[in-house]
Amino acid sequence: MSAWLITGAAGFIGANFVRLAAAEGNARLVVLDALTYAGNLENISELIGNGNVEFCRGDICDAGLVSELFAKHRFDRVVHFAAESHVDRSILGAGPFIRTNVEGTAVLLDAARLSWRDRAGAHLFLHVSTDEVFGSLAPEDPPFTEQSPYRPNSPYSASKAAADHLVRAWQHTYGLPAIISNCSNNYGPWQFPEKLIPLMILNAFDGRELPVYGDGLQVRDWLHVEDHCRALLAMLAGGRVGATYVVGGACERTNIDIVRGIVREVDQLRGRPPGTSAKLIRHVADRPGHDRRYAMNAAALQRELGWRPLHSLDTALPVVVRWYWENRAWAERIRSGAYIDYYEQQYGARA
Ligand code: NAD
Ligand code: DAU
Repeated sequence: MSAWLITGAAGFIGANFVRLAAAEGNARLVVLDALTYAGNLENISELIGNGNVEFCRGDICDAGLVSELFAKHRFDRVVHFAAESHVDRSILGAGPFIRTNVEGTAVLLDAARLSWRDRAGAHLFLHVSTDEVFGSLAPEDPPFTEQSPYRPNSPYSASKAAADHLVRAWQHTYGLPAIISNCSNNYGPWQFPEKLIPLMILNAFDGRELPVYGDGLQVRDWLHVEDHCRALLAMLAGGRVGATYVVGGACERTNIDIVRGIVREVDQLRGRPPGTSAKLIRHVADRPGHDRRYAMNAAALQRELGWRPLHSLDTALPVVVRWYWENRAWAERIRSGAYIDYYEQQYGARA
């Protein structure tokens, strides 16, 4: 049976990916996650040790640990999600972003290179990256494609761009079989509530203020996390080695539209008079260097691998709002910090 190393799968997208991949059932999945503040083992708890998913708490920058895992499990696939992922945190301090996103990626690439050099097989390193490496679009610009030049603007996107360049270099120099996926903004269950959509949903439930940066007219291209994960599975199954694929929902919305949509859903769900939660919206200081617009043209992925998004934001947003309502105990354990204890109860003290 094929063995896959999945990094960062106690986080948002990785956790959704592991669920889908485990349900497919044709690989042994080893999750490597450091459980930073963004990692929550509860996101995948029911999968661990229950069939084909194994969990290892560890840092992708730990070259000894990573090469031990390669020797033990003889991985033929790496799906690399682990990263520092929040732009605002990268503005406060770039150090952890450069360490994990750049150095950690180099450690994984080298472990894969050394392990696969002497071992034949259908190996693949799938690097999960972002649309933010391409910078910001003007209103009239066409969406990004695989040919768009790299123009990262934040410490986060610069660290992801550096990681993409390392993948490309390992491919070119050592012949490492790799694919780079650059995806737009994801939404869905298990997203850490520092990101726009879960933050606004949970604040609106509690009647807290909804902080919209600047004029709120920045545009993001929203994709349901399950659609992103299906795109990654399609790349693993039939993607062209050496390719880059851009992934997006063709769903451009301003932030203020997203927030207005959320407050409408929350009022409806909670039986509040229309307009109640909209009164919580506050325009606050803008994010420094804030990218104005992202949009992706996923035509190549659609043409080559037959992928297309199955969810539309209009029908998925009410379902997602309801998910956060039904799982508010999960969110509360994050807010209170109690989610850290979950790991300790299962595995002992957290360093
Ligand atoms: P997340 O912050 O929710 O999860 C990141 C996970 O990585 C956490 O479980 C964390 O514990 C783990 N991690 C961090 N540093 C680590 C280290 N040194 N060693 C091992 N594990 C470590 O992130 P996410 O939103 O799920 O994003 C996953 C990946 O997808 C990232 O690479 C991100 O750049 C990319 N991406 C995200 C989006 C989005 O909208 N969220 C869109 C496109 C691409
Ligand atoms: O585009 C893909 C990227 O999307 C991923 O690579 C990143 O990992 C992910 O965090 C996300 O980055 P963004 O910066 O676009 O996501 P965030 O949820 O932080 O913000 C979305 C938009 O909403 C952005 O324009 C900033 C704005 N915003 C965000 C927060 C948290 C607000 O106006 N208020 C807020 O409180």
